[in-house]
Amino acid sequence: MNEFDQGIMKPGIEKYATNHTSAELPVLAKLSRATHLRTHQPQMLSGHLQGAFLQLISHMIKPAAILEIGTFTGYSAICLAQGLQEDGTLITIDCNPEMEDFTRPYFKESGLSKKIKLITGDATEIIEDLKGPFDMVFIDADKENYLNYFKQIFPKVSPGGYILADNTLWYGRVIEPNAGSDRETAAIARFNTYVQQLEGVDNVLLPLRDGIMMVRKITKGI
Ligand SMILES: C[S@@+](CC[C@H](N)C(=O)[O-])C[C@H]1O[C@@H](n2cnc3c(N)ncnc32)[C@H](O)[C@@H]1O
Repeated sequence: MNEFDQGIMKPGIEKYATNHTSAELPVLAKLSRATHLRTHQPQMLSGHLQGAFLQLISHMIKPAAILEIGTFTGYSAICLAQGLQEDGTLITIDCNPEMEDFTRPYFKESGLSKKIKLITGDATEIIEDLKGPFDMVFIDADKENYLNYFKQIFPKVSPGGYILADNTLWYGRVIEPNAGSDRETAAIARFNTYVQQLEGVDNVLLPLRDGIMMVRKITKGI
């Protein structure tokens, strides 16, 4: 599998789209290379096209506070933090303590380390203690907890704020007849259905790479 074969798009299309997207920042290119050389699941990294998309969306929202669930090597965190307000903060959570030493030098090199707060631990527990409000949330951790994360975080998202969730087409498995037979696909399908039926939000499931569910919170409750 090469870097253009991870999503649901025809490989040629994703490559063409990437070639017509602003160049990857040098720090991100370096981080991507190191992630491919030194980690076991480099395909977890957002990558050039999706990273550029997250960066652009963040610049459009100009958030004061971002929450990311699922740091991995920090690629998407650096992309999202680009659009933060001058005194804005991004909190990123990952349960894998082994990645911290790998990731921190890239946060430093990006010039954004003062704005990025990395918390190591189980996000299902950590989110409880976060105050918010968040203007933007990126959910990109264990698929089985997507709905839990969404329900936990929704009350802490500012009205007019955004929640983005990655991998919501799950390699196209969500439309297969046996979609409910493996736990991760079933969890993603449950998440997508929940968001689709929820009142007080606008949402679009964008078929970029492995699918990004984008949700705008209109009202206060859940
Ligand atoms: C797909 S990767 C994140 C990729 C990253 N957002 C990017 O685009 O470069 C998912 C990450 O979620 C983390 N994770 C899984 N379960 C978690 C949990 N319960 N709490 C916090 N992090 C978790 C994993 O350790 C992994 O690093």
